[in-house]
Amino acid sequence: MIILQGGFQIPISSKCNLHCKNCGFIDYNMTGLSTAEKNMDLNDIIYLDKKITDMNLCLSEIELFGGEPTINPNFREIVEYLETRRGIFFSRLNITTNALNMTKDVIESLRKIDKIDISAYPIQDNSLEDFTQIFESSQLYKILSESVNEINIHWQKEFDYDVTDMNLPKDADIKSIFYHCYQQKMCRVMTFDGIYRCNAIHHVKKEIYPYDKEILIENFVTLKNQPLDYCKDCAVAKAIYLDSLGKSSLYKREWKSNNSLIDKSVYKRGLKLIQQYD
Ligand SMILES: C[S@@+](CC[C@H](N)C(=O)[O-])C[C@H]1O[C@@H](n2cnc3c(N)ncnc32)[C@H](O)[C@@H]1O
Ligand code: SF4
Ligand code: SF4
Repeated sequence: MIILQGGFQIPISSKCNLHCKNCGFIDYNMTGLSTAEKNMDLNDIIYLDKKITDMNLCLSEIELFGGEPTINPNFREIVEYLETRRGIFFSRLNITTNALNMTKDVIESLRKIDKIDISAYPIQDNSLEDFTQIFESSQLYKILSESVNEINIHWQKEFDYDVTDMNLPKDADIKSIFYHCYQQKMCRVMTFDGIYRCNAIHHVKKEIYPYDKEILIENFVTLKNQPLDYCKDCAVAKAIYLDSLGKSSLYKREWKSNNSLIDKSVYKRGLKLIQQYD
């Protein structure tokens, strides 16, 4: 069996309980469109598993993603199945979540996951501090910490936007940009037709790698440091370039909601669910 190193996202939910402005998956380029295909069910996960394991491959890390993965009605069933596939389909099971849907069912499933990355948003004044304090002092955090290897809270005060009036200069070092791009290592996206190397090309649906053993090994192992054609046009590549010039402020903007009324009520309910767990 060959293990493909890196992170492979499975976008199990095409919907979300929050409405972050310019979310790459739910409000792509502020169009209001979702780039995630569908709400997956157990058969969809079995299909993806079979595509990988039939080639005698195993993925180092998979990450349940979305949209908001915990609002998928099949979440429990999906995690229960995946728990039986550790060491066969993948080595480590991760999730990225806004943690605002901590129902009893969701919590039971989260206990089976290896790493939980929580994105915290400034939905109300001081909410990042409040959220972190409430979460880290909760009984829920204590229980999750007993079985989950790693729990991280990421403060998402700012979101990234494409700098549409800028192109990468012709002499930009694309090879180095690609090498330093977090997405190409950890944000591959699994779909029914194949795997996209990163979120950016999944969103524009380019350069997919079909489920073919030779193609996957060539791109994820042999040529793993070779940039994609799309890198030169990519907003993430521009951001990496601007970071290198100390000009991150050109692409970062304060996080905003497209529907603050709903998001405030989702946040309120989310905090209640976290606090009421015992
Ligand atoms: C698409 S969300 C899916 C999981 C979950 N709903 C969450 O928010 O954690 C995954 C990550 O992408 C980040 N993200 C989405 N759009 C972004 C943008 N335009 N700029 C920066 N981060 C973004 C989110 O903040 C989150 O950390
Ligand atoms: S919580 Fe925000 S960033 Fe995560 S999927 Fe929903 S809208 Fe996108
Ligand atoms: S297309 Fe963009 S996000 Fe994808 S690997 Fe290239 S620089 Fe990174």
